[in-house]
Amino acid sequence: MVFLLNNYKMSAKDSNDRGTFGSRLGVVLASAGSAVGLGNIWRFPTEVGNNGGAAFIMVYLAFVFLLAMPVMLAEFVIGRGSKANTVGAYRTLAPGKPWIVAGFMGVICGILVLSFYSVVAGWTLHYTVESFANRLTAGQDFKAVFDKFVTNPWKPIAFQMAFLLMTHFVVSRGVERGIERYSKIMMPVLLLIIVVLVCCSLTMPGAGEGLQFLLHPDFSRVTTSVVLSAMGQAFFSLSVGLGCLATYASYFKKDTPLVSSAFNVCVLDSLVAILSGFIIFPAVFSVPGMAPNAGPGLVYITLPHVFNEAFSAMPLLGYLFSGMFYVLLLLAALTSTISMHETATAFIHENYHLSRRKAAVVVTLICMLLGAACSLSFGPWSEIKIWNRGFFDLFDFLTAKFLMPLGGILITMFVEWYLDRRFVVAQLTNDGALKVRGLRVLLFLIRWVAPIGVGIVFLNEIAN
Ligand code: PFF
Repeated sequence: MVFLLNNYKMSAKDSNDRGTFGSRLGVVLASAGSAVGLGNIWRFPTEVGNNGGAAFIMVYLAFVFLLAMPVMLAEFVIGRGSKANTVGAYRTLAPGKPWIVAGFMGVICGILVLSFYSVVAGWTLHYTVESFANRLTAGQDFKAVFDKFVTNPWKPIAFQMAFLLMTHFVVSRGVERGIERYSKIMMPVLLLIIVVLVCCSLTMPGAGEGLQFLLHPDFSRVTTSVVLSAMGQAFFSLSVGLGCLATYASYFKKDTPLVSSAFNVCVLDSLVAILSGFIIFPAVFSVPGMAPNAGPGLVYITLPHVFNEAFSAMPLLGYLFSGMFYVLLLLAALTSTISMHETATAFIHENYHLSRRKAAVVVTLICMLLGAACSLSFGPWSEIKIWNRGFFDLFDFLTAKFLMPLGGILITMFVEWYLDRRFVVAQLTNDGALKVRGLRVLLFLIRWVAPIGVGIVFLNEIAN
């Protein structure tokens, strides 16, 4: 129960041969890169539009700051406090104790998420290419085009593999030369594209109606199941519960401020999610008779149509808008897959003493295999069901509904119930060098609110 009673101060060592993020900006951009992903741009806007607009946003933001941010902070404490991968972290902080199971769960969860997430990322890569090749032109049945593509036995897999290789390239280059360097390039480009697209979208004729659809608060639609899905979305969107951010935090320096970094990541992630709605719905509502639909249909079926129709008088602008939108989605997906890959790579690299490059190859190969099964579940393997689900849905269900919430409960309980309070406070305040406003509230959230809140949602999900 009591850890490091006499040694609760932070390690004097700032970096070791594991690599370190060189700057605070790198810390925030890499962590925000993990958080900002398909979940923000693809899933969040439709959830908001269908589930009560601003009312949903309020519930969502409450979950982000009251539940997900405490879990993120707990991950930061575990990561920087141990300077090890997720499994190594529990081995260091709780030697010989069963907590290590939470570490293994995180690695498995990271691999499963990467396997199904890379399917959609592969679709995005394909649509980016199609968009720049000017093949998403008017007069096509975009639903038929999409169905034909995803049910093809090898084409989506080829794009998925290409995407995994891009991820592999960055991760295998290491923490500073790979993850930090590319996050520092990709995240500013991503944010710039968002600003340009928001400005462009808000000048479209459907802007008023689109914003009304997105923001009109309708509390009657916020049912229990909507509240639960807002919480699931908050967890997924902030990448918490599987130790991915703990792995990133293990590369933080000892003067990296944990609380303000977590806060900045949460703000940035929520902002991108909301602004994505500002891009999508004004465009959709600019086309008469167009209804926003949920899931893959929105991005791969509705939007290509919208880009053509809304810009029919200015095709060049439509071409640029479309291209920039898919690049945005691609960058968001890539910075997220890098973090999932790194969680497993760091574990294999440190646990089995393989070089980083070799460890990355192992992870990429596993994800290629499992990922191909997920991709095939839309086509030739659509009949293969486990617990009534194809591979893609099964992996999605197992991670988002099961492993991530369970991970969130274990992570917060570990930090507040197992670790020495002084050790946690030393981490959060950088050995007392920082004055953290609301520290007691944060500790309360980590100790009680996060595990109990997530626990209720988790039990509810299992019961259904
Ligand atoms: N946060 C990412 C998104 O919103 O798309 C998804 C994600 C990334 C989940 C990393 C889990 C993870 F470890």
